[in-house]
Amino acid sequence: MKARGLAASLLLALALLPGLAGAAGPELVLAQAPDRSHDQQALQRGARTFIGYCLGCHPASLMRFNRLADLGFTDEQISKEFLLGARRIGDPMTSTMRRDDAKKWFGIAPPDLSVIARARTSRLGPGADWLYTYLRGFYRDPTRPSGWNNVVFQNVAMHHVLWEFQGRLSPQEYDGMVADLVGYLVYMSEPTAQSRRHIGWYVLGGALVLLLFAFAVKPPPRKSRRREHV
Ligand code: HEC
Repeated sequence: MKARGLAASLLLALALLPGLAGAAGPELVLAQAPDRSHDQQALQRGARTFIGYCLGCHPASLMRFNRLADLGFTDEQISKEFLLGARRIGDPMTSTMRRDDAKKWFGIAPPDLSVIARARTSRLGPGADWLYTYLRGFYRDPTRPSGWNNVVFQNVAMHHVLWEFQGRLSPQEYDGMVADLVGYLVYMSEPTAQSRRHIGWYVLGGALVLLLFAFAVKPPPRKSRRREHV
């Protein structure tokens, strides 16, 4: 009887847990980022936005320029479009801004974004959803030094660097631009994800062939074998 009472209160506690967690504050709901992982054109657009509008402040030092060939860029395109100054094609994507200066200007150095899509994965959802919500979640806030605040990153030191686009494009177009950029950030976090998935299919296919083969090759009936031995 005692055990049953204990079990009942345990169940009750478990049932109440989600409610209690919610009571701590309004739960943030992230917008779902469209999947761009199979869309090379979208990933190319995302790479262009990243290099044009983010790399000036944020390094992505685990990524090298020549890896952009994975997204279908030719070496010539990479050299002409993306390699400014003394950079070479095998160089990592470092930022042109000096960290000391960045700290002086923003109070905090802009973090490296190489694996941000993985770093921002939480119980709220995948990192892609966080990034998609973040980049669409800037709002005017005159109390902040930058004049901007963000729905998922309270008092963020970054201003809304894409605000001109948000003003010029339709909401759908802006969301599309951000989705492409997030697609690229996801790709950077795990550049081998695509090939890993391909290899997975080959392995499964190979296993299936072996299985069919095993069915096709039947062992000789048992009886006849036994007779042979007698
Ligand atoms: C003018 C400099 C600047 C530019 C350009 C810039 N950022 Fe930032 N960003 C910052 C700073 C500074 C922070 C740190 C904010 C903080 O911690 O309060 C930041 C933070 C972030 C974060 C949060 C990182 C974390 O701590 O999880 C993300 C994500 C991000 N930026 C993405 C971008 C993207 C994508 C772009 C390009 C569209 C971009 N940023 C362009 C300065 C910049």
